[in-house]
Amino acid sequence: MSGPSRVLAIETSCDETSASVVTNHDGRARLDSLVILSQDIHKIFGGVVPELASRAHLKTIGPVVDRALADAGLEFEAVDALAVTAGPGLVGALLVGVMYAKTLAHSLKLPLLGVHHLEGHLFAATLEDPEFAPPFAGLLVSGGHTMLLDVPEWGEYRLLGQTRDDAAGEAFDKVATLLGLGYPGGPAIEKLAATGQPGRFDFPRPMLKELKKSGPDRFSFSFSGLKTAVLRAVQNSTDLDRDRADLARGFQDAALEVLVEKTAEAVDELGYPTAMIGGGVACNRTLARRLTDKLKGRARVAVASNRLNTDNAAMIGAAGAWRLNRGDRSGWELEPRADLPFPGLVHSPLFSDQLA
Ligand code: KG4
Ligand code: ZN
Repeated sequence: MSGPSRVLAIETSCDETSASVVTNHDGRARLDSLVILSQDIHKIFGGVVPELASRAHLKTIGPVVDRALADAGLEFEAVDALAVTAGPGLVGALLVGVMYAKTLAHSLKLPLLGVHHLEGHLFAATLEDPEFAPPFAGLLVSGGHTMLLDVPEWGEYRLLGQTRDDAAGEAFDKVATLLGLGYPGGPAIEKLAATGQPGRFDFPRPMLKELKKSGPDRFSFSFSGLKTAVLRAVQNSTDLDRDRADLARGFQDAALEVLVEKTAEAVDELGYPTAMIGGGVACNRTLARRLTDKLKGRARVAVASNRLNTDNAAMIGAAGAWRLNRGDRSGWELEPRADLPFPGLVHSPLFSDQLA
């Protein structure tokens, strides 16, 4: 079955207002245009302020969509379907994108599809890497989620493990705040860590030992204890200006080691030729390099460029194109949900925890 050809996608789940046009080739999307407007206002507050995010989306969604169409050289009439992030995310922010997409779908009489934000992150690498396809082990690491997935087919997601407390990106952001760096913290930590001395601060590797045991937490993650360990080291520091880069290095080495070791073990146990990293933390090139080195000769690592790993509408278009091609559609009842369930997510037999 071949679905609608030109998909206009919208993403407003957090603090990026984004629109994109993709062309659907039998469920595989080709990128025609992508506009991402980042809301700088939150930098003043050191984190996303939900009401400000919604208001900023409301102001900019129209121009952002117009610009995505213009960049693709298209008028509204050339669009065949709409895909929009329906969750998870900030509900007021999601509402703006969903209402805008519904209005367009109604006035242009087009099919509409609500897309899960994390499924979007899984599809990001397909836009740049023609070889990338299931089966793969997928590490989703963002500001709100940390999940390790077995993906035997698109649409079939088996949860191997997830975080028990903070998400990986959240840990980068909180540690950045402790070190007096700005928001978002990930890029600042990575840059500073590159100049830091390895091993001077030897922080715990949370839940790494569990990997070698046969318990329910083999592939689980935890970052809040690591954050507390950094807090103590900051409190004990007599010269933070001297120690800052070494602390960033110590934290990043600890966090990345757990992510790399668990992902590599999952790839080996599943016997897959590919690992994928997606979500905002996948912008961390040190993570991609360490996983690539670890899996050398065993599996390759698919990771999108930074523009497609941070929140963007192109990945929503890519996941949407695949689902629209299968005949998936949302009706008027489509509404955003902060806790939208991941479609097709089941427990892996390698995982014995409860779904959160
Ligand atoms: O996927 P994303 O753009 O938004 C969510 O869906 O949460 O992820 C944002 C997260 C932030 O926590 C940010 O600090 C982190 O991704 N991040 C990074 C890097 N770039 C962004 N974390 C580590 N290293 C980076 N280079
Ligand atoms: Zn995201």
